[in-house]
Amino acid sequence: MANDSMTITDHRTDKSYEVPVECGTIRAMDLRKIKTSPDDFGLMTYDPAFMNTACCKSSITFIDGDKGILRYRGYDIDDLAENCTYLEVAYLLLCGELPTPEQQNKWVAEITHHTMLHESTKQFMDGFRYDAHPMGMLVSTLAALSTVYPEAKQVLDPEVRQRQIVRIIAKMATLAAYSYRHRLGQPYIYPDNDLSYSENFMNMLWRMTEPKYVASPVLARALDILFILHADHEQNCSSTTMRVVGSAQADPYLACAAAAAALSGPLHGGANEEVLCMLDEIGSAKNIPAYIKRVKQGEIKLMGFGHRVYKNYDPRATIIKQVADQVFEVTGRNQKIDIALELERIALEDDYFVQRKLYPNVDFYSGIIYQAMGFQPEMFTVLFAIPRAAGWLAQWKELMQDPDQKISRPRQIFTGRELRTVQRAGEHENAKNVGRILVHQ
Ligand SMILES: CC(C)(COP(=O)(O)OP(=O)(O)OC[C@H]1O[C@@H](n2cnc3c(N)ncnc32)[C@H](O)[C@@H]1OP(=O)(O)O)[C@@H](O)C(=O)NCCC(=O)NCCS
Repeated sequence: MANDSMTITDHRTDKSYEVPVECGTIRAMDLRKIKTSPDDFGLMTYDPAFMNTACCKSSITFIDGDKGILRYRGYDIDDLAENCTYLEVAYLLLCGELPTPEQQNKWVAEITHHTMLHESTKQFMDGFRYDAHPMGMLVSTLAALSTVYPEAKQVLDPEVRQRQIVRIIAKMATLAAYSYRHRLGQPYIYPDNDLSYSENFMNMLWRMTEPKYVASPVLARALDILFILHADHEQNCSSTTMRVVGSAQADPYLACAAAAAALSGPLHGGANEEVLCMLDEIGSAKNIPAYIKRVKQGEIKLMGFGHRVYKNYDPRATIIKQVADQVFEVTGRNQKIDIALELERIALEDDYFVQRKLYPNVDFYSGIIYQAMGFQPEMFTVLFAIPRAAGWLAQWKELMQDPDQKISRPRQIFTGRELRTVQRAGEHENAKNVGRILVHQ
């Protein structure tokens, strides 16, 4: 018997099966041969919410949730946050290596030259209500880009794929900025090719009548670091959505729109918005114990706390706390940080949180920084989505090149009714329906 295998004994039949073990997993399809009779469908696994199922082999992002490690392509997240720009990290995620200086120049030039939106897309955004949620605008307009670039449906062509990847990464910042300006009733600002990715984003957000926008270097770098921290997080809910929709060979604009829709949920990227609402509700440090009591009674959740994978401090939260101090030097201190720090201190000393290994996640502090920069909470998830597009596209590219992959199609355990037939009131008096009445009797 091979070492890398296991033997499963089925006590229903007393038969034993040898199943190969590879990378700490067994193939679910190997269980199908475990049957009680020749016409039995075969054994399946039941795993709602994919708690213990690997859906792909991936070389992009590594997380060790117990140790609090996050790496993109082998580089620690704090190394990347300290030494790279967001566009370098996006290249790394997509191509597997950091760009050489020549590759970097070409990549930045490509992204810079694809930041503009077609005028019809701008008009499309004009159609949203004045108070439309920016995440709704982002999701819908991302999907609408599919109509602007019909070639995108050629998902099996690597060159076409690459063009859409560049377009999406470039246009995410423009879509986000336009959704921001739309809510304020301000005119859209065209991209400025002289500026870096995050400076140009700030230009499209905040330029008013001045002929040239000059970004604060501290805030531009803070945004770039936040973009790096949010760029990928392996098989989370939105990346999985990207892969599932992408597996049907839908074009990447539609798949990204679906992924962004998943991100908008309060249990995923929408949590940063919820954290600010929670801090508003708490109001001051003296109300924290009463709030924690409600959390422990199961009435509410402590937003920005807990993670499916991290059972230790989220390494991104540590970096974000440092970025917050730099941002406050420019913007002034956001008083919410004091409530957040006190909330964290109390929670981390409390048995409820200690036993469940609930630590602050990336969303706990990011919103406080965004608010200090002048963003309304409704924009926070959009700010998350801009860089996460790089992760979605890296996951999508990997999926499209993976010979193991097919259209995603899980199985179910059917718990519904056995076969029955339609019965209408009074039918039992009709001689033609005797058969049906018999079923009923
Ligand atoms: C992220 C999250 C969805 C992960 O959920 P999960 O892996 O399914 O974890 P569970 O819901 O099984 O949580 C395990 C236990 O911790 C509790 N718990 C988890 N997150 C909690 C939170 N934020 N506040 C209070 N209790 C929490 C659960 O109630 C559960 O307790 P129980 O064992 O007594 O039933 C969850 O922690 C959460 O909702 N957090 C708040 C939202 C958030 O910040 N999301 C951003 C993620 S980056």
